[in-house]
Amino acid sequence: MLDARTIDIIKSTIPLLESANTALTEHFYRRMFRDNPELKDVFNLSHQASGRQPAALFSAVLAYAKNIDNPAVLGAAVERIAHKHTGFAIQPAQYDIVGHHLLETIRELAPDAATPEVIDAWAQAYGVLAGIFIGREEQLYRANESKTGGWRGTRAFVVKEKQAESEQITSFLLAPADGGPVADYRPGQYLSLHLDAPELVHKEYRQYSLCQAPNGRDYRIAVKREPGGTASNFLHDRIQVGDTLRVLPPAGDFFMDVAADTPVVLISGGVGQTPMRAMLDQLLRQGHPAPIHWLHACENGTQHAFGKDTRARRQAHANLDTHVWYRAPAATDLPAEDFDALGLMDLQAVKDSIHLDDAHYYFCGPLPFMAMVKETLAGWGIADERLHYEMFGPHQQL
Ligand SMILES: Cc1cc2nc3c(=O)[nH]c(=O)nc-3n(C[C@H](O)[C@H](O)[C@H](O)COP(=O)(O)OP(=O)(O)OC[C@H]3O[C@@H](n4cnc5c(N)ncnc54)[C@H](O)[C@@H]3O)c2cc1C
Ligand code: HEM
Repeated sequence: MLDARTIDIIKSTIPLLESANTALTEHFYRRMFRDNPELKDVFNLSHQASGRQPAALFSAVLAYAKNIDNPAVLGAAVERIAHKHTGFAIQPAQYDIVGHHLLETIRELAPDAATPEVIDAWAQAYGVLAGIFIGREEQLYRANESKTGGWRGTRAFVVKEKQAESEQITSFLLAPADGGPVADYRPGQYLSLHLDAPELVHKEYRQYSLCQAPNGRDYRIAVKREPGGTASNFLHDRIQVGDTLRVLPPAGDFFMDVAADTPVVLISGGVGQTPMRAMLDQLLRQGHPAPIHWLHACENGTQHAFGKDTRARRQAHANLDTHVWYRAPAATDLPAEDFDALGLMDLQAVKDSIHLDDAHYYFCGPLPFMAMVKETLAGWGIADERLHYEMFGPHQQL
């Protein structure tokens, strides 16, 4: 525990942190990658280039300083970050490296303010937070290891199927090379692939949401080809049926957790449908009796992954209602079998069917799309506890 004096000192540095803003974490990452270049094989460097990871780290550091006298309020954020860390196989010894560079960053950016007292207070505060993460991450590693079909670290998986689901999205069915079972997961969670190949400049960890309900045998992911993207193009172009991928156990704090009588509304844009597919699969397999709504938006039929499957499921399940928007349908999309409306997703147009007492809403897609969904649902008065979303990149508050 931190003493009152240390807490006061940390609080006194809040204006300093705020004035530095993300320059703080950008400096931190620059010096860390300079002195510990081996970490370029750990971090996602495109999230550095986009500034999203420095922004996510800055928000976390600032939130910690602001809640230093009551860190329990950061529980949900700690849980999300710990899960994310396990998807990069983060180890306790790496906390010393990060701690060192954080303290040196404070010294270098604010030489006058960084008195020995301030540095000591931040060293203590960092130590407490690092201890919380290390403890929680170890729990997650152990839980993954002790599950039936579970493991620790990476495990070799063989690609059993590779299937184009749309022009840009391809799914991969992965089964363990050792022939054993695979651990269950909670629909909404993701796998991390650890990619290492001569044509990759660095080793890369990438997360992909599991897109089918758990079955104990195999995992399915669906990957969108990103223009200029390292991992997605590698997976699309290089990885074939029979190839082996190194995989970390499922992780993530975004998962469906509803009672049988809870209506569920799944809302996705583009490849953001992957975690929703696992949820839908699970709900339908369980015979979820309450209403289920699937809302999806994409460009047109050529970009609409799993469209036929969604239609087949709607036809087979009376309590499943689906609504699909195509922004710009192609001539080949007519007759309109797989979409219901033109243009961008318009939640107001379906408000009567999806604004349900006690429903839980799960959504995922591009950032502006999720911001729209969050704003609309919150505007209808839906409480935060019923809104759940996943970000395909470093976390940002919506
Ligand atoms: C929890 C989670 C779940 C996810 N689930 C899925 C999923 O189910 N399906 C899916 O397809 N994706 C998913 N993702 C996203 C996925 O992890 C990858 O981020 C995505 O595949 C892109 O990776 P990439 O290596 O191809 O692209 P990257 O190489 O990471 O590049 C991403 C973009 O940044 C640009 N870029 C890279 N470096 C630079 C630079 N130096 N300067 C400027 N621009 C640059 C690239 O051109 C590209 O457009 C998920 C992510 C998370 C965090
Ligand atoms: C107390 C110390 C730490 C804090 C506060 C912290 C904070 C964060 C935050 C906020 C994120 C983004 C989470 C999200 O997107 O949901 C993150 C991701 C990550 N962290 Fe940490 N972290 C800490 C320690 C470490 C350590 C020791 C390492 C190991 C070198 C590490 C490696 C990573 C990696 C690789 C990611 C993913 C980056 C990406 O997606 O680009 N972190 N961390």
